[in-house]
Amino acid sequence: MAPRVVLVGPMGAGKSTVARRLGEHWGLGVRDTDQDIEAAAGKPVSEIFVDEGEEHFRALEVAAVATALVEHDGVLALGGGAVLAPVTQEALAGHTVVYLEVGVADAVKRVGLGHGRPLLLGNVRARVMKLLEERAPIYAAVATITVDTNGRTPDDVAAEIIRRV
Ligand code: S3P
Repeated sequence: MAPRVVLVGPMGAGKSTVARRLGEHWGLGVRDTDQDIEAAAGKPVSEIFVDEGEEHFRALEVAAVATALVEHDGVLALGGGAVLAPVTQEALAGHTVVYLEVGVADAVKRVGLGHGRPLLLGNVRARVMKLLEERAPIYAAVATITVDTNGRTPDDVAAEIIRRV
């Protein structure tokens, strides 16, 4: 089994919403690695960061992605930082990976105050800008398809993915 598509991209790219739209369209289940991690830990990602630290979260994330890639045959959305792990980058090879590209303005608008997103605490705009700068090349490298989400609705983005997959 393998997911039909894997969605990658930064916080505020719309991964979870677009994943739901794709799942509805194709009649496929939708899985989200952040939710898998939260369900297993019994607490939100933000609390895992506070209680156990980011490194621990990243280890849980590597395992959650690896499991989902073999278990799930629907639409899979990865947490924004999942692709940072080299082992995850390797595991994505051979899958249809869609990078939801987003600029700072749209990402900031979508994440709002950054509620529940520990990496954005402090100055949301500055942090989003830094994360986008650091990670855009990684998302592009693991993706087989890149979709511009700027100024677009999740329905519109999902429709483009459906046309191109
Ligand atoms: C993170 C993104 C979050 C979540 C965690 C870390 C990141 O997922 O995994 O807060 O490093 O970009 P979303 O992209 O689904 O918000």
